[in-house]
Amino acid sequence: MTKIRMTPDGTLSVPDTPEIPYIEGDGIGQDIWEASRRVFDATVAAAYPGTPEGEDQRRILWRRVLAGHAALAETGESLPAETLEAIREDLVAIKGPLETPVGQGMRSLNVALRQELDLYACVRPVRYFPGIESPLKHPELTDITIFRENTEDIYAGIEWNAGTPEVQRVIDFLQTRMGVTKIRFPHSSSIGIKPISREGSERLIRAAIDYALAHSLTNVTLVHKGNIQKFTEGGFRRWGYELAEREYADALADGRLAVSDVIADNFLQQILLHPDRFDVVALTNLNGDYASDALAAQVGGIGISPGANINYSSGHAVFEATHGTAPDIAGQGLANPSSLLLSGAMLLEYIGWSEAADRLRSALASAFASGQFTRDLAPSSSDALSTQDFADAVITHIR
Ligand code: NAI
Repeated sequence: MTKIRMTPDGTLSVPDTPEIPYIEGDGIGQDIWEASRRVFDATVAAAYPGTPEGEDQRRILWRRVLAGHAALAETGESLPAETLEAIREDLVAIKGPLETPVGQGMRSLNVALRQELDLYACVRPVRYFPGIESPLKHPELTDITIFRENTEDIYAGIEWNAGTPEVQRVIDFLQTRMGVTKIRFPHSSSIGIKPISREGSERLIRAAIDYALAHSLTNVTLVHKGNIQKFTEGGFRRWGYELAEREYADALADGRLAVSDVIADNFLQQILLHPDRFDVVALTNLNGDYASDALAAQVGGIGISPGANINYSSGHAVFEATHGTAPDIAGQGLANPSSLLLSGAMLLEYIGWSEAADRLRSALASAFASGQFTRDLAPSSSDALSTQDFADAVITHIR
C-alpha cells in the first residue's frame, strides 16, 4: 500500500511508505531538489527509526514526474497529461521552480497546475529564523500564516484590451444596458473583470480557520479592500464573518477563535508596526500576492519562504519552492535549497508526520544560527557553502 488517500471523514490516510511525485523544475531545480531529497530522507529516517532488522519504519517513495524543460525535451509537452494524472492519483506532490517563457502566449505552468487541480488555498507560513538578515528591528515578532485565495479575483484572466471590438462591446453593454456612466475614458480603456464568490471565499476562510484551530492560534484576520469594492472585497469580508458565526460559534464563544478584519492598505502598515497582532490571515488573490512578498521580505526570507497550494476537500496539495528558476546561478552549486526544504517540512506536516517536519525546521534553524549559509545569505562569498554542502550541514543538525 503506497497511496495517500482522502477518507470519507475528510482526513488523509497515509501509508508508512507513501508514493509522492516530485517535479525537479527548471534552472536551479535540479540542484535544490537533489540537496533537498537527501535532507528529506535523512529527516524521515531520524524521526522514525527503523526496526533492529534494518527496516525503515517510514520512508517516502519519490516518484519522478515531468514538467517544464525536462518534460518538453522528453515528451514534447511542458505539462504532460501523465504528470497531472500522477498528482491527481497520489494527491500530494512537491515541485521546484518552473520557467514561464515571456511573450510566447504560454500559460504559466504553475497557474495551470493550480487550476487543473483546483488548488484553492495558497498557504505561506512566514516566520523569522535567527541569523537571517532582516530590515526590521524585531523580525522575530512576525509569525504569520497566509491563506491566499488561489482561483478567483483578477487572476481569472477575464480582460479585454483597449481598442479591440471586444472591449467596445463590453463598454457598450455596460453603458447602455447597465447604466454605467463612470468609465472615464471609454474609447481607450481596457476592461478587466473581478469575480469573487461566496463559495470561493468560504472555502478559503474555512481552511484558514481550521488551520488556526488545529495549531492553537486564536486570531484569524480577513484582509480586504471592501471600503472601495463593496461587493467583491466587501463580500469576502461579510461571507467570512457569516461563516465564522455559522460554523465556528463554539470556538468563538469559548475564546479559542477571534475573527477580525482589516483593510488591505492598513494591513501592509500593521505588519510592519504590530506584526504580533496577526496569527493567520485570509486574503483575496491579488491582496494575497502583494502581502506574501511584503511579509516574506520583512523577515529577510524572500528567497527561503515555503509555500503550498492545497484543495482541502479533495486532499490535493502541491508544495513548492516560491522563488523562480534563478537561471543566473543554475548548475553552479550556488542555489539555496531552503525554500524547497521548508516546503518539504510543510508537506511532512500535511501528511501528519509532524515529528519529521519539526526536526527539519529545527535543523535548518540550527544551521542558520551557526552561521551556515549558501552564497545568497552568507556575509561574504568566502564564507558560503555550496548547495550540497549546505544540505550536508542541515543533515548533521538533524542527527
Ligand atoms: P528568480 O526568483 O528566479 O530570481 C531572482 C533572483 O533571486 C536572482 O538573482 C536569483 O539568482 C535569486 N534566487 C532565486 N532563487 C534563489 C535560490 N534558491 N538561491 C539563491 N538565489 C536565488 O526570479 P526571476 O528571475 O524573476 O524568474 C526566473 C524564472 O523563474 C522566470 O521564468 C519566472 O517565470 C520563473 N518563476 C517561477 C516561479 C515558480 O515556479 N514558482 C516563481 C517565480 C518565478
